Amino acid sequence: MPGRGLEDVVAAQTSISDIDGRLGRLFYVGYDIHELAENSTFEEVVHLLHTLKLPSRAELDALNDQLTAERDLDEFVDRLMPTMAEQTSPMSMLRTTISAMSAYDPDGWDQSTEANYRKAMRLIARMPTVVASYDAIRNGRDVVKPHPKLSHAANLLYMLTGREPEEEMARVLDICLVLHADHTMNASTFAARVAASTLSDIHSAITAAIATLKGPLHGGANEAVMKLLLDIGSVDKVESQITKLLDSKKKIMGFGHRVYKTEDPRATVLRRLSKQVGEHVGDTTWYEMSIEVERVVMEEKGLYPNVDFFAASVYYGLGIPIDLFTPVFAVSRVSGWTAHVREQYADNRLIRPESDYIGPRNQHYVSIDQRN
Ligand code: COA
Repeated sequence: MPGRGLEDVVAAQTSISDIDGRLGRLFYVGYDIHELAENSTFEEVVHLLHTLKLPSRAELDALNDQLTAERDLDEFVDRLMPTMAEQTSPMSMLRTTISAMSAYDPDGWDQSTEANYRKAMRLIARMPTVVASYDAIRNGRDVVKPHPKLSHAANLLYMLTGREPEEEMARVLDICLVLHADHTMNASTFAARVAASTLSDIHSAITAAIATLKGPLHGGANEAVMKLLLDIGSVDKVESQITKLLDSKKKIMGFGHRVYKTEDPRATVLRRLSKQVGEHVGDTTWYEMSIEVERVVMEEKGLYPNVDFFAASVYYGLGIPIDLFTPVFAVSRVSGWTAHVREQYADNRLIRPESDYIGPRNQHYVSIDQRN
């Protein structure tokens, strides 16, 4: 019997990413995440995850052209968005919108390898437009059209704020997208692969992934981290507040990990970015508080921060609304999800685990009037 929550169960063979939880290392296609965060752009990572190699200059140019050409939403989604903005929270909007987009995808229900690649690129390209359009409409602003000359990360900031971002801040978000792009058999990727393994379509698989990422134990943790920091309010209150939460057996969001037994390598990079963004905007409060939370949680529980912990203060410093933190995670992770779905299709077998029955046996039907 495997551990609860499928701990230690190998659910798929993959060439996309790999984690060494003991040493705290993450690789995309064999490249260390630190090297990619230092040198690579999100667009290069998209190519890497989908083709298993870094692009040549010509391949990258072609991918950039494809992604920028696919940024506009179709009319159906444009019409849907005001209702979404009025009625739904950001992750529910994203889940429903991605599902709705399947109806108008130019490749329709074509499930060929080529069509699925195009659908994947379209999903990656459009996700920032979906998030930014929703945010503009719910705040009564005009929707900002995608800027064809800007990178994926810079364009997202541009559409969210209406201003072309400074290069340094655009690169910070670009690195965040690189760091969040894939992470082996995390819950949302597993959900995507399970859906794909029934040979359901790629939009359905990504919808399942978004629904799974939405939960506070997965992608939702980054928002909870920022709310906690705002609630605490200052560095001097951190120790007493965190101790109080831990004493009442509350989990501190952004800490702990199923696989890493040491520091999550993404947290190492994000800690640095949190400081950089704080210094850039002239307010390092959230960075300093985060460092103090980290110290107290380590002393009290021996837990390390995960990807969501420092991502919170980075996104906040970049001016991203708190309830869009998880959608921004999805903007990046859709690259990994779609790569995994395509990998699943390429060598598919239905994913159908067993369960361990622990309910009563040998029961006999009693008519409804005789039940107590
Ligand atoms: N704060 C306080 N205690 C925590 C904790 C946290 N963030 N994460 C784990 N623990 C404790 C648990 O209470 C448990 O203690 P116990 O054995 O005394 O009951 C122990 O560590 C093991 O935790 P468990 O929840 O069983 O680990 P898991 O492998 O099932 O869960 C997470 C992994 C990530 C879901 C879990 O660490 C968590 O809920 N973290 C907060 C949410 C989060 O940041 N999610 C983003 C993940 S990238």
